Amino acid sequence: MKTSIILGIETSCDETAAAVFRGYELIHHITATQLVHTSYGGVVPEYASREHNKLLGPVIRGVLEQSEMTLADIGGIAVTQGPGLAGSLLVGLSYAKGLALGLDVPIYGINHIEGHIFANFIGEKNLPTPFLCMLVSGGHTQLIHVENARDYKLIGQTRDDAAGEAFDKVARLLGIGYPGGPLIDRLSKEGSADFHHFPRSSFDGSYDFSFSGLKTNVMQYISKQAPGFIKDHLPDIAASFQEAVVDVLSGQTMQAARDLGHDRIVLAGGVAANSRLRERMVELTEAEGKTLFNPDLRYCTDNAAMIAYMGYWKSISGSADSLDIAAIPNLKLSFGG
Ligand SMILES: Nc1ncnc2c1ncn2[C@@H]1O[C@H](COP(=O)(O)OP(=O)(O)OP(=O)(O)O)[C@@H](O)[C@H]1O
Ligand SMILES: [Mg+2]
Repeated sequence: MKTSIILGIETSCDETAAAVFRGYELIHHITATQLVHTSYGGVVPEYASREHNKLLGPVIRGVLEQSEMTLADIGGIAVTQGPGLAGSLLVGLSYAKGLALGLDVPIYGINHIEGHIFANFIGEKNLPTPFLCMLVSGGHTQLIHVENARDYKLIGQTRDDAAGEAFDKVARLLGIGYPGGPLIDRLSKEGSADFHHFPRSSFDGSYDFSFSGLKTNVMQYISKQAPGFIKDHLPDIAASFQEAVVDVLSGQTMQAARDLGHDRIVLAGGVAANSRLRERMVELTEAEGKTLFNPDLRYCTDNAAMIAYMGYWKSISGSADSLDIAAIPNLKLSFGG
């Protein structure tokens, strides 16, 4: 590698993002959230790719300028390889390959999920492994035993919807917009979580989750109400739904931590930005003398800082990829025994 400076590129969904790292130190990062999807109530894959194509050049130029660097300073490119939308991944990956080829620097294909998990430690030289990770995002809800940055064991996962997906779908049912998570979070602050008791699902002898029953229950609840009721009680219903999700996520995570003897718990992914979930996890971990790692809010949802940071770890282990690396839309963490 020419220098220890890594440019990170993230285009897996609807954020076009770039970051510059010197070693493990973040110099600067930019996340451009695509607004084109808002009126559709969800991400439109074709539009996402086109927007990445338009935005990625300016975002990279911007992050270099703000880092007071030029492309000539870059010693390696870290890019999200998957999981994500195929067309969106291809834009970032192709751009990254072009840069790596043109600059004659190594390319590091990064698993976006690893990025989310280790986003907690951006800027740190050491990773406090092992730990139990609650990964809660738009596409994932998993409890993962993280032995180190290469060794993971799946403890539990959703059997249907992801937690973020549940927030987004319920927000759509309530007619409050997209993305649902931040909107429900904000609305809930003005409502009462005790207004209605939505069901909490669990499975005997398993740390798995399920949110589709909860979503259906919210739908049935809404359909039974008189006109105007939902509008009048939006904050209460949002808070009651959120409380059900937080109860399930926090309860299951703490149980797994107790059973498996974990003293360190790491939150990761977009739903880790949820203020009620963070508050509850702080209370529960403090009560049991466990250490909680909450990612900085900027690094909960998709960003390139977490991608460049993983690029740093790959660069020090010398594991560069070839220019043949492909986008893998359904890339998984590889779980050992
Ligand atoms: N404050 C919040 N409360 C609850 N959910 C939130 C909050 N902020 C964001 N989210 C949810 O997080 C999700 C987006 O997170 P993220 O960007 O990590 O997911 P993704 O990239 O779409 O999926 P994945 O990372 O699994 O591929 C959305 O579903 C969004 O509603
Ligand atoms: Mg993500």
